[in-house]
Amino acid sequence: MEVIIKESPLEGSLLAARIIARAVRKDPETVLGLATGSTPLILYQELIRLHREEQLDFSRVVTFNLDEYVGLPPEHPASYHSFMKRNLFDHINVAPERINIPDGMAKDIRGFCREYEKKIIAAGGIDIQILGIGLDGHIGFNEPTSSLTSRTRIKTLTAQTLQENAAYFGGLANAPRHVITMGIGTILDSRMCLLLAFGERKAEIVAQAVEGPLMALVPASALQLHPDAKFIIDQAAAACLSKRSYYQYVYDHKPDWQLD
Ligand code: GLP
Repeated sequence: MEVIIKESPLEGSLLAARIIARAVRKDPETVLGLATGSTPLILYQELIRLHREEQLDFSRVVTFNLDEYVGLPPEHPASYHSFMKRNLFDHINVAPERINIPDGMAKDIRGFCREYEKKIIAAGGIDIQILGIGLDGHIGFNEPTSSLTSRTRIKTLTAQTLQENAAYFGGLANAPRHVITMGIGTILDSRMCLLLAFGERKAEIVAQAVEGPLMALVPASALQLHPDAKFIIDQAAAACLSKRSYYQYVYDHKPDWQLD
């Protein structure tokens, strides 16, 4: 696990974009795992800029989103389908048939989830998985106590996450309680995980995920098991890390051959 502490959300997002751009330039068929939430927004803006100004070509890239609300039509403004169109897909040349997002309207949810897993495997597996982190430590929508080997499935949101999401749905009463999410096992199968976390409110949970015990109560701690997981965070989100200066030292003194 590598902890990279950048000065600001902008700097962290630019680094994540560079890692993705390099992968896509090397392998135009890179498979990207994508996340929603406010955290990856600057990253997506930079990917759009790279496409427009530096000809970053997404035409053969395949994408798999982490999650979607159950019972929400894709055209609903708060759906993750809408989020991805608005914030990324409408502005780059990704081929619509190569975009995969869980179908919250699927009649047979279990069957759909099985197929989603098969599709990821058929695409060759996810090369780079982008992740945010919820205040309770969730990745995707794997809420606390999710099995550390879970696969894509339906989950029920916690009261805290419901509260966090309420604003997007005009209040708690309208906020969906169920979601389809890739499992923690699905996420751990990705070749590289890039978890982004910015701001003071994420500081405590980032420290638990990075330095706390590996446990289902903090789903993001599962990344401790991953051979190539990078936490890209800003100074504010690094505030509670006990080995903060060590991570900074390691990053600042990386030998050339080890640079990202
Ligand atoms: C939602 C998403 C997660 C995201 C989290 C944090 O629960 N399903 O993928 O990481 O929110 O959101 P934010 O980035 O807005 O803090």
